[in-house]
Parts: sequence; C-alpha cells; structure tokens
Amino acid sequence: LDNGVSRTPPMGWNSWNHFWCGINESVVMSTADALVSTGLASLGYKYVNLDDCWAESERDENGKLRGKASTFPSGIKALADYVHARGLKVGIYADAGNRTCTNQMPGSLHHEYEDAKTFAEWGVDYIKYDNCYHDGTRNRERYTAMGHALEKIKRPIHFSLCEWGQEDPAKWAGAYGHSWRTTGDINDTFARSIAFHLCIHLHPNLWQPLNHLNNRWRRYAGPGRWNGNPDMLEVGNGGMTMDEYWSHFSIWSLMKAPLLIGCDLRSVSNRTLRILGNKEVIEVNEDSLGVQGGKLRSKDGLEVWAGPLSDNRVVVVLWNRSKLRALITAVWRDFGLSPNTPAIVRDLWKHKYVSMNKRDRLTASVAPHACKMYVLTPLQS
Ligand code: GLA
Repeated sequence: LDNGVSRTPPMGWNSWNHFWCGINESVVMSTADALVSTGLASLGYKYVNLDDCWAESERDENGKLRGKASTFPSGIKALADYVHARGLKVGIYADAGNRTCTNQMPGSLHHEYEDAKTFAEWGVDYIKYDNCYHDGTRNRERYTAMGHALEKIKRPIHFSLCEWGQEDPAKWAGAYGHSWRTTGDINDTFARSIAFHLCIHLHPNLWQPLNHLNNRWRRYAGPGRWNGNPDMLEVGNGGMTMDEYWSHFSIWSLMKAPLLIGCDLRSVSNRTLRILGNKEVIEVNEDSLGVQGGKLRSKDGLEVWAGPLSDNRVVVVLWNRSKLRALITAVWRDFGLSPNTPAIVRDLWKHKYVSMNKRDRLTASVAPHACKMYVLTPLQS
C-alpha cells in the first residue's frame, strides 16, 4: 500500500516462533529493552509484535477486545506506551475469522472497524491478520474489510496479511496491505523451512523449494508492498546450525522479506547477534531500490541467488543446499553485466573486499548448507 508505511521491509521481533502462547507483559517489555541494549533497534529492528494469545478469550461487555488480565495485567495500551517510550513501535495480532488460530481469543470477522479503532486507540503500529476459523467467504473479501477499516481510522499502521499465499495475495493485497505471507508456517529446521516450504495454496501438504514460492511473486514486490514474506525468522532458536541460520538470514534479506526476529532476545547469544546484527546484510534488505532478489540458477543443490541494488550494484548469494562442500560460480551474464565489466566485490559476512577489479565470474568454496554473500559494484556499465 502506497501510504508511506514500510517503504523498505519492516524489521522487528514477533513472539510466536519462540514463545507460542507463553507470552506476558514482562517478556514483551524485556524484549523491547533487549532490542535497545543489544543495539538491534539502532540497526532498524523497530517493531515489537505480539502474536496469538494476548487477549481474553471473550470480548468485554461492550464487545471490545481486551488484554488477558492474567498475563497482561497493565493492559495493552500501557504496554504500547512502554514500547513507544523506548523509541520502538508496537504490533498486534488479530484474525479474519471468528477465533484466532489457537482458538484462545476472538477473531475480528464482522468486528473489523471496532477492532481497528481499538488498536489505534492503544497506539498499535502493525497488525498481523491471520486466517483461521473463518466463515468460508473468500480471503480477499475478509482481508479487504480490515483494509478498509484501517483506511478509515487514519493511523499509519503496517497491515500484514497472513493468509499463507492461498489466494495469490501478491496480485491483490498491495491495494490494502504492506506485506503478505507466501507460505505456510516456518519451523526451526533446515529441511522444513529454509530448503522447503509448505505450499498450502496448492495443496494442504505440498512441500516445495522456497524459491518456487517467492520467485513466483517477485515482480509484485516493491516499496510499501512486500510479498517476500516466507514467514518470520528462526535464527537463534537452536534447531539449525549457525551455517544454516546464516543462509536463512542471507536469503531472507535478499528476498526483501520482513526481518522479524523470532528468538528469545532476553538471552540472545553473541553468535546469534552477529547474524541478526550484520549491518551490511541488513542494508541489502533495506536497500532503497526495493527490488526483490531471487534464484537465478540451481544444479544439484548449488544455487546462485541475486538481485539489483541501488546505484547499479548487485547482491549475490552463492548457496550450497547440498550435503558436501562445493565450488559455486556466478557469472556476470547472470546479472546482465558484460563479461569484461570490472567490479569491486565485497564479502558481507567477512566484512572485507575480496577484489577491486573482478571480471566475468566469481567462484567460492561453500560449506554444506552455508552461503557466501557479496555486493558487486560495477566500475562501468
Ligand atoms: C498461524 C500463523 C502463525 C501464528 C499462529 C498463531 O499458524 O501462520 O504465524 O501466528 O497462527 O496461532
């Protein structure tokens, strides 16, 4: 949606991937503090987003949603004030059906305007809108209803559509929303999140390589409308190796996916922080050109991913999805550069220039499940 919100992919934290329903105001407040104290906030991670289970099971006597008294005793408005006081923004979770996906709280179907108004009164800056327990009407209809409600309340709110890519949201969601999921839920394993994704828009149990989903909708992405939303990050949750998390973060950044941290930031390790806090990789995600990169070539699990950046630069990821260390080569032709064009090549994970005058091709030895990530600056076009 072209209303000034999320001109670059949103960055922040969401409670679901680590805490599931186990959230409370102290977790959220200490996460806001941790975003600031770790320096992640100053790198752009601004949203502190509550996922499912923040509300009482039923609306109050006036039909309003309310924070769950046992876990959010101070109320959501006070929590939002706490988060805002730290220079951060606050996000909330709601559902385009009668109940949310865990069935723990009411959905917003037929309550769109009153709920949007409540969220705005609390100072909410981001809404994730899920798709469970609905009445069988089309997603597009129910999501549009919330889109219209948000238009009416006039607060700049990032509207994230979580209908898992079922009705090809890239084609229509940009008129109302700023990002949309393209896949089923991620989990914290290489096989079932980074390499393959649940493709429920095609079949309830069909797993496909990630690129099939995101590459397909590439051309619909741009400032204010991010379809690169292959779900939130799992980096730091412990189910993958550091090399795998490294690839996860590199590919998500190149795809211009929202960078929503999903681990427990109160006890985040330095190794995890080095991934989530890699400024050069974040700059790729947040590049002003806003063009989603994608997979260009793949053979036996050896893949070349790339995309254009501002100032004629190119981001390149050489990703090894196979089980053995291997050499991977990108050639200039892959990105429309002529073989003779000299380029400065910078390694974004080593934080150093690997060549000031590279021509034609770039080859690297890449460990299994790891990747190399470079920015190429051509010296002439
Ligand atoms: C769905 C969403 C998840 C999460 C849960 C919460 O599965 O896709 O991201 O929000 O609901 O119940």
